[in-house]
Amino acid sequence: MVRNDVAGAMRPPAGIDSSTAVFAVIGDPIKHSKSPLMHNAALRELGLNAVYTAFRVAPEQLGQAVQGMRALGIGGMNVTIPHKEAVMAHLDEVDESASVIGAVNTIVNRNGRLIGYNTDGLGFVRSLQEEMISDLRQSRILLIGAGGAARGIAYALLKAGCRRLHIANRTLARAEALARDLSAFGTVAAVQLGERPAIGAHEADIVIHTTSVGMHPDVEAVPFDPDWLRPDMIVSDIVYNPLETALLREAGKRGCRTHSGLGMFVYQGAIALELWTGAAAPAALMREQVWNTLSHE
Ligand code: ATR
Repeated sequence: MVRNDVAGAMRPPAGIDSSTAVFAVIGDPIKHSKSPLMHNAALRELGLNAVYTAFRVAPEQLGQAVQGMRALGIGGMNVTIPHKEAVMAHLDEVDESASVIGAVNTIVNRNGRLIGYNTDGLGFVRSLQEEMISDLRQSRILLIGAGGAARGIAYALLKAGCRRLHIANRTLARAEALARDLSAFGTVAAVQLGERPAIGAHEADIVIHTTSVGMHPDVEAVPFDPDWLRPDMIVSDIVYNPLETALLREAGKRGCRTHSGLGMFVYQGAIALELWTGAAAPAALMREQVWNTLSHE
């Protein structure tokens, strides 16, 4: 019922009233989340009588929060750190996108049934396709890192039909385990990450960086020797704050086309919104909202 109510509420709301649908993000901490700003702008643009808010939920109250979602008929929620794995136990169903990754970032309340999805990796790939290269079927991709973020992206790249995926990680065994887990979805192999990834630069068209190297406070660090990059490569970093990481700056200097993590954040939200409402998300507006907050920080 809840989802249908939302899809049916296509009249411009005069304000919050007794029919207003509610969406939210849960996490701990949550107050720096840019999701409410981004989603409320999108809901307004779509003319839906709906609001999106944020709840700080402590780990020991996660189960109660999900029960509250059921009891209150909240239409959908995003789930962020530290609840992405633990929330799965409280749901009625988990989509392949979340079960393969082992984490949920989006819950859809479909007529009282709570279904978990993961739109992070799918959002990354949609961003790559919208902004850089629409068809990945000829692409040979080098993914740097084998953590949670890499897992979702690797899954989505293989689902998009990329020609070949190499996963390079400092701890080779972790890359090997990930490659094994995803082998049913396409051609994927693990390699060692050192000063240079253990494949030739001519074997990759797109390089995607997902490790924590270069994040605050060590923002000048790069995950491998950038002289390894070739000018015809696309180089992507999932970090979006700063928009231009040290790796992207070095890649830009060498003539590569660069892709920041902002689109991943925007499209993980866009796909969630589409799952909740059935309407096409206004992604450009959503991006602008987040970008505005970044440029003023
Ligand atoms: P996330 O969920 O954000 O991906 P994670 O699961 O902790 O985080 O994974 C972090 C990734 O960053 C891993 O690929 C990790 O490599 P290891 O598996 O070898 O630990 C990588 N990473 C973190 N610090 C690194 C460093 N100094 N050099 C290279 N890789 C690093």
